[in-house]
Amino acid sequence: MAESLAAALEREHHEIDEEIDAFTAKLAAGSIEVAPLRHAATALRRHIYLEEVFLFPPLRDAGMVAPVFVMLREHGQMWRTLDTIDAELAVDPDDATLQRLCKELVVQLQHHNPKEEQILYPQADLALDEQASERLRAFLDSGALPDGWTCERA
Ligand SMILES: [Fe+2]
Ligand SMILES: [Fe+2]
Repeated sequence: MAESLAAALEREHHEIDEEIDAFTAKLAAGSIEVAPLRHAATALRRHIYLEEVFLFPPLRDAGMVAPVFVMLREHGQMWRTLDTIDAELAVDPDDATLQRLCKELVVQLQHHNPKEEQILYPQADLALDEQASERLRAFLDSGALPDGWTCERA
């Protein structure tokens, strides 16, 4: 049986968390290796994109207006943190600034992800029709964030 959408989406949360953790662990040990952080930041932006474009509209149509509203607002907050991280990475970031920004992002994710996992994701497999579900699965497999896209409340 195919993995549920809920499980696939939750797996992305864990993968992104692990990448940020791997980066901050090395940073705490004194080595800055920016590639994993860049990768995690891109993966998170892509995850936000697929939620806002493929997942939230059908959930909203199914009546989950308020939870989707809250998630969009939190995406906006995370997006701004990601912009700050990318701006730091573009210059010559110092350890303390990167630690602080990663901590900020981790706290935002710790507030955001459990709500999606407990409230929104369990409805995904019910609210998305076959076509919407296929589009989301195809994107999860191999979709790329379109250049220049920003989240609704960035
Ligand atoms: Fe989200
Ligand atoms: Fe998510």
